Amino acid sequence: MTQRIFAANWKMHLGPQGTRAFMDTFLDMYAPLDDREVWFFPSAVALGTAVAAVQGTTGIVVGAQNVHWEAQGAFTGELSIPMAREAGATAALVGHSERRHVFGETDEETGSKVRALLDAGLTPMLCVGEKIEQREAGETLAVVERQLSVLGQYDRQALGRVVIAYEPVWAIGTGKTATPTDAAEVHAFIRQWLTKHGADRKTIRVLYGGSVKPVNIRSLMAEPEIDGVLVGGASLEPESWTAIAQTPLD
Ligand code: PGA
Repeated sequence: MTQRIFAANWKMHLGPQGTRAFMDTFLDMYAPLDDREVWFFPSAVALGTAVAAVQGTTGIVVGAQNVHWEAQGAFTGELSIPMAREAGATAALVGHSERRHVFGETDEETGSKVRALLDAGLTPMLCVGEKIEQREAGETLAVVERQLSVLGQYDRQALGRVVIAYEPVWAIGTGKTATPTDAAEVHAFIRQWLTKHGADRKTIRVLYGGSVKPVNIRSLMAEPEIDGVLVGGASLEPESWTAIAQTPLD
């Protein structure tokens, strides 16, 4: 079975000190499990701290929340992939809804980031998801398909290195979760799209994100279409994150 992924997106929280304190508590409670990996997306400035803290611990991946597609240059405020890699990151989020809808990131830009990450040997976690008005207009699958289209040019091997996170925008940070059945419909569509474009079914990983909490993790993970979760708010406290990341799978 493909390993599940339990991923923490810390957004603009936890600098180096907060990261160190979190990891001290978390690692005391952490027990690696064969069926999953635990991923962290800390702030750029805390990447090195997170990497140093988990060094020698199995089953943990550290990634950047955002990267620029150019390797260097006059891009004030941006993080390059070589810099993220130098800090020890092996993955990066791409196209998170806050990047798309707060910062106006376009599909073209997410596409350039995916390409640059694959070229550099890092794992892109491409986030897709519809806004509430798009869901109400019945456009969910069309929106997700458009966001996935940046992957249309890749072969089986490259597609096998991309992780997808389906995060309905209306469920992020709102306390509203898609029901496991609603999420499963979109996950099945994503899986089908990837397979149609050459991906090997066995390597596909589609995570769910949006108000994942200790109380709903079991029902979400019981849905066979859901290969893991991407968690914001509930990943900021070691106790609630451990409750999620160590959830037994039935
Ligand atoms: P949330 O955020 O868990 O706080 O809803 C999820 C995300 O934005 O990745």
